[in-house]
Amino acid sequence: MTLAKVLARARAGMDLEREEIITLLETADPEERSQIYETAEALTLYYLGPEVHLRGLVEFSNYCTRNCNYCGLRADNHRLNRYRMTSEEIVAVAEQIELMGLKTIVLQSGEDYWYTLEMMTRIIQEIKQKTNLAITLSLGEREFTELKAWKEAGADRYLLKHETVNPDIFAEIKPDSSYEHRLGILDQLSQLGYQVGSGGMIALPGQSLTDLADDLLFIRTNKIGMAGFGPFIPHGDTPYRGYPSGSGELSLLMLAVARIVLRQVHLPATTALETLLQDGRRRALEVGANVIMPNFTPLEYRKLYEIYPNKAQTSLDEVREVILSLGRIVGTDSGDVLI
Ligand code: 5AD
Ligand code: SF4
Repeated sequence: MTLAKVLARARAGMDLEREEIITLLETADPEERSQIYETAEALTLYYLGPEVHLRGLVEFSNYCTRNCNYCGLRADNHRLNRYRMTSEEIVAVAEQIELMGLKTIVLQSGEDYWYTLEMMTRIIQEIKQKTNLAITLSLGEREFTELKAWKEAGADRYLLKHETVNPDIFAEIKPDSSYEHRLGILDQLSQLGYQVGSGGMIALPGQSLTDLADDLLFIRTNKIGMAGFGPFIPHGDTPYRGYPSGSGELSLLMLAVARIVLRQVHLPATTALETLLQDGRRRALEVGANVIMPNFTPLEYRKLYEIYPNKAQTSLDEVREVILSLGRIVGTDSGDVLI
């Protein structure tokens, strides 16, 4: 099928087939890529309007029990200085995020069981008492009892990236995780009533464009409401130090195709994309992104949350300026998922 036909079907609101998604991802000609980007932009405005939602990110601990081969926070990376924020520090940042006009806080950490069921419950309750923020958790593969308690305590959303839907690559990159178990947790989160976010990395060793198409189908089939895709960036203190970095341009194309395939799913301009692509935040917003996560981690800790090197910094003022300069607006509600 020709590109024009695929794009026409997408504009008509059809669910694209696997082969059509692959056709989009294989597009190399710059003029044809522009057609994909224009369609993605039109569909973003049609399904979501001009609103861009800001989520205040707090990376509250860089301890991690796992050893993912791609990630600088892996337990065996002894060159990294580790930190943990106290409950008081976390709640204080939450209050600051609300003062700055944001509507959502994202509490993110490595997989760190030092923060117990009870401790996280108290943090969630306190943030809910002191602010009107929606709370997104991003704490890795936690127990069902924990996920349940945190939902009951007031958590609204949970981010758990599936990373790649290809089970062989998953086993390679996350040698101490189980693919089935991780996907099982995504199911549990939906059943518990969380708004669920997932996503993955682009240009992992051995990954094909077909794998990326399957990543998008995975999000669509499982009715996941948010999806973050960013390029793999090698980190010098991991086993993948010598692997090639993902391509910024392919990652931008993946974002545009994600918008075309997933329609009203929330798609962030990922920090990894901003890190690799000149003017990446603006370009991401132009081809389908409708979420940005400005970083509110206290500066002394921020440089230690090094999942990959040279992470882009996202200041709130810059973000607001880019949004307005594109004729978009900052979302004024909590920006709940729409599926
Ligand atoms: N390059 C790109 N993204 C990475 N992540 C972790 N390490 C890297 C890397 N080297 C992403 C993964 C993970 C989240 C913590 O950050 O998608 O879910
Ligand atoms: Fe830990 Fe997540 Fe990094 Fe894996 S990707 S090492 S679970 S922080």
